[in-house]
Amino acid sequence: MTVGGQAWWLTPVTLALWEAKVGGTPEVRSSRPLLPLPQLRGTLYNTGRHVSFLPAPRPVVNVSGGPLLYSHRLSELRLLFGARDGAGSEHQINHQGFSAEVQLIHFNQELYGNFSAASRSPNGLAILSLFVNVAGSSNPFLSRLLNRDTITRISYKNDAYFLQDLSLELLFPESFGFITYQGSLSTPPCSETVTWILIDRALNITSLQMHSLRLLSQNPPSQIFQSLSGNGRPLQPLAHRALRGNRDPRHPERRCRGPNYRLHVDGAPHGR
Ligand SMILES: *[C@@H]1O[C@H](CO)[C@@H](O)[C@H](O)[C@H]1NC(C)=O
Ligand SMILES: *[C@@H]1O[C@H](CO)[C@@H](O)[C@H](O)[C@H]1NC(C)=O
Ligand SMILES: *[C@@H]1O[C@H](CO)[C@@H](O)[C@H](O)[C@H]1NC(C)=O
Repeated sequence: MTVGGQAWWLTPVTLALWEAKVGGTPEVRSSRPLLPLPQLRGTLYNTGRHVSFLPAPRPVVNVSGGPLLYSHRLSELRLLFGARDGAGSEHQINHQGFSAEVQLIHFNQELYGNFSAASRSPNGLAILSLFVNVAGSSNPFLSRLLNRDTITRISYKNDAYFLQDLSLELLFPESFGFITYQGSLSTPPCSETVTWILIDRALNITSLQMHSLRLLSQNPPSQIFQSLSGNGRPLQPLAHRALRGNRDPRHPERRCRGPNYRLHVDGAPHGR
């Protein structure tokens, strides 16, 4: 592994679980977030690079705990996916890719007034990543976004569709661990201000839903169809960044000992 000075904070990386430092790290155990979160509404949007869901300013959903020193507010849900199954996620685990990756992008609401100020500043952003496989079942939250009636509204670049009554807690697995590292935004300006938290249980969507994603175009309807798939940033060297997690790969059935170290996803209908 090379230590490239510039590569220090770049995202994404391939994460080898055996590299995670397990001795003496806090336990990072989590279960489905405190129920219920307020129901979200917002805009599903084809940016020409990926599928984006931009929640309305209210209600506020925030994440805290785990490796985070501050409460971070959700500002975007982003969905990246590949042209074929098993590829398309930005991160890899043990050199294995996934068909898609859902990124919940948050900014530090305690220190900064908005996303753009936070993205340029220390401890600015926190991104929770969930990996997605193609299988016979489907995650109920993703099903709301990917049902035919909804996803076909954003077939082309800049198409947007308003959604409401979304239950974000349904996105999360019943229980999960996570891996965390310090990295960057994977899209310009690639700011190196992100605490990444990768959830270690994959979600499922059906092959039909995956297919409907690949039918989205990077271009407006007046231009040639070019699939939105495969838009993740190429892998970056991990260098000597510390990974932390709660899995000891030599004993995957065992959880690390230590004080509880929980991740909280929380919300308030009338937030600040
Ligand atoms: C974001 O916050 C910065 C610093 O507080 C401020 O200068 C800027 O105008 C804000 N931007 C928006 C879009 O509100
Ligand atoms: C995803 O699909 C796999 C294979 O069918 C299954 O074993 C697993 O339990 C599913 N995961 C969830 C969260 O439903
Ligand atoms: C989340 O944000 C809301 C509104 O700012 C606040 O009332 C609540 O305490 C926050 N929760 C956490 C866990 O930070």
